[in-house]
Amino acid sequence: MKGVVLAGGTGSRLRPLTNIINKHLLPVGDLPMIQYAIEKLSKAGVQDILLITGKQSAGLYLEYLGGGDKFGVRLTYKLQEKAGGIAQALSLAEEFIHAGEKFVVLLGDNLFEDSLLPFMEAFKHQKEGAMVILKEVTDPRRYGVAKMKDGVIEQIEEKPEHPSSNNAVTGIYLFDASVFGVIKTQAPSQRGEMEITDVNNVYAAEGSLSHGFLVGWWIDAGTHESLFQATLFIRKEDS
Ligand code: DAU
Repeated sequence: MKGVVLAGGTGSRLRPLTNIINKHLLPVGDLPMIQYAIEKLSKAGVQDILLITGKQSAGLYLEYLGGGDKFGVRLTYKLQEKAGGIAQALSLAEEFIHAGEKFVVLLGDNLFEDSLLPFMEAFKHQKEGAMVILKEVTDPRRYGVAKMKDGVIEQIEEKPEHPSSNNAVTGIYLFDASVFGVIKTQAPSQRGEMEITDVNNVYAAEGSLSHGFLVGWWIDAGTHESLFQATLFIRKEDS
């Protein structure tokens, strides 16, 4: 299975740090954030990885990650000219993924303990559609939240004021190549972004959205507080 890592966006919640450097190059523990996503994929046997990022710091990615050899992967790069949302960034992977192929997508600011392997294995056996990975959290309003009925995701609500569950949708997604067609049917949301949640809701409505749960720690390191927390998790894991 191939992998796609999304590392574009503006990183506005991490200003002023992100005024001078792309969010995913900020340090978490001893390493730049992006390395965790690449290593997670590599450890799960994903060797072909497309990294999508913006113009800011693009050269630094090449300098640090190169072709991916030292992480045991083959890296391809693609530029997201302007931050247009997660689904818009993902649409740039269309040429990288061939018809009929399944692949795993990681948001570059998500760090987690679990292996990707069990989810990839389950998704290989899924006939078609998509899979999202959930994590039970105490503060679901910050995330996409899964509205469940009889153990199935009915709908995902993006940052709801009144969440219907504590099941946050993490930045770990598995898709088949149909996702590029689905993205094309979508329009930008009120905040002007192409939302991955709208894309996943198409699969939910069709009955082809499955899910898994993370059991270990998970963090979206997109704020100053959570970036600090991420370093604490990593330090604890390493000790
Ligand atoms: O972390 C999980 C959450 O990520 C989910 O629960 C939400 O459903 C999902 O919408 C997303 O929410 P965020 O508000 O955290 O998304 P953010 O704008 O921070 O972007 C997350 C990652 O996606 C970030 O690492 C960079 C990448 N990205 C984002 C945008 C907007 C891009 O590559 N290009 C983009 O244009």
